[in-house]
Amino acid sequence: MRHPLPDPHWPTREQAAASRLFQPIRIGGWESTTRTWVPAMVPWRATDDGFVTPEVIDWYGRFADGQPGVLVVEATGIRDVQSGPLLRIGHDRFLPGLRDLVAEVRQRSQGKTRLLIQLIDFLSIRRRPEPGKYFERFLQVTPRHHKAMAQATGEHAWLQADDASLRQALAQAPDEVQRAVLSPREWEALQFGARERVWDLDNPDIEALPRTLPQRFAEAARRARDAGFDGVELHYAHAYTMASFLSRLNDRPDGYGGSLGSRVRLPLEVFQAVRQAVGNDYTVGCRFLGDEVIPGGSRLEDACYYAERFAGAGMDFLSVSKGGKFEDARQPKVGEAAYPYTGPSGQECMPTVRMEGSPFGRNLPLAHAIRGRVRASGFDTPVVGAGGIATFEHAEAALQQGDCDLVASARQSLADPDWWLKMQLGQGDSIRRCIFTNYCEGLDQKHKQVTCQLWDRDLESPDASPQGEKRALSLAHDGKRRLLAPPSPAFL
Ligand SMILES: Cc1cc2nc3c(=O)[nH]c(=O)nc-3n(C[C@H](O)[C@H](O)[C@H](O)COP(=O)(O)O)c2cc1C
Ligand code: SF4
Repeated sequence: MRHPLPDPHWPTREQAAASRLFQPIRIGGWESTTRTWVPAMVPWRATDDGFVTPEVIDWYGRFADGQPGVLVVEATGIRDVQSGPLLRIGHDRFLPGLRDLVAEVRQRSQGKTRLLIQLIDFLSIRRRPEPGKYFERFLQVTPRHHKAMAQATGEHAWLQADDASLRQALAQAPDEVQRAVLSPREWEALQFGARERVWDLDNPDIEALPRTLPQRFAEAARRARDAGFDGVELHYAHAYTMASFLSRLNDRPDGYGGSLGSRVRLPLEVFQAVRQAVGNDYTVGCRFLGDEVIPGGSRLEDACYYAERFAGAGMDFLSVSKGGKFEDARQPKVGEAAYPYTGPSGQECMPTVRMEGSPFGRNLPLAHAIRGRVRASGFDTPVVGAGGIATFEHAEAALQQGDCDLVASARQSLADPDWWLKMQLGQGDSIRRCIFTNYCEGLDQKHKQVTCQLWDRDLESPDASPQGEKRALSLAHDGKRRLLAPPSPAFL
């Protein structure tokens, strides 16, 4: 099955000027020049210590060339801990690089693009272990394991055996014996890699999250403001800490899980701490899930309630996403970590032409219902919709039908960062159209530098650079892929 790309009818310059898509909209303390939005995308270009690199600056500069109304910088870690080449904002030492990034976007967009940064917290997830190592080193053997082994094998000698013999025997036992002896979480740690949950209250750091996270987010937001960003997007979506607090699976008994009101409590407390740190005039919103799309997870009705509470608390925008969870992720290979965009919920997050049902505008009904609830509750908070939007008609219809107030396009903007400007100038025929087969997402999954397969049709043109100066083409580490979209055409 492969859905054809919709036939586009690109607007003339006059049609674009008259469209809703290219009208301004107020978001908190400022106005976005248009209703166009590039949502967060991790490109894996930071240093291993989380600092901005020249490649990070080029990446955002290239999006800025297309002058979207709003550009959101990738999920950026708020803790001051090692997290690989993921951008970080957990200390003031990250500020100089982030300031350079802001300056580049201002200059390359000619001041037309507002720049947000997405703030993320995440819990630990380990790689899937080699089974021998798991039983030898990681499994914490207790009397329960001896008893379960005796029961599973019918051999009572296991009740008295030493731990080392039990480890050895378990490593060689068939799957059904291992499964009978291990707890569900131990079995998961063996098959997928150990993963922390927000309801692991026996872990003191996790138990303390309601006391530690508000301040961490607040400090990160204060840094974002100091670096010159126009606002922050709190990452309450997908597989990460804050989304897990909102999840129906969260049964923390300490007032931060269980009922709807308890699940939204920490996200609201984080927002309040951020608001206090950055002031009322600074733009703060969140990205959250309209549907987790996992068994037992939160659904649209939960999301509508959350949206009403977020709007009521004074958030300046609500960006709606879908799925992207660990719970249904594919089993990783030994030595690799599970990735939350590999299962059914992941496919809903980044829909492809290979899935059942059309991927185009697929998630807009969620944004529509959420926006309806927010409006019915008397709030005019702008709602951002995303998911397979890659034509003018889809974007304009989403706005006209009240699905959303701003249209976010991630992969289409990756395929052609100039596409917004090309539409605006009546040059839609020159748009390089995303084919929605997720080559880029496959790279993201492997934490490789994210690029678009369509860029590599042009391995001759120099990289785009500000003011048209020529620059040598920069390639990914494998030497085969362009790191940046080909340069903008001369008419831009
Ligand atoms: C390579 C890649 C990285 C992404 N990283 C993030 C991220 O850091 N934060 C986030 O909220 N969404 C992330 N997303 C999801 C996108 O923002 C977007 O919601 C999704 O791709 C669906 O929109 P689209 O159909 O316009 O691509 C990422 C998507 C891609 C393709
Ligand atoms: S790699 Fe494929 S899915 Fe990703 S942006 Fe390019 S064309 Fe679209």
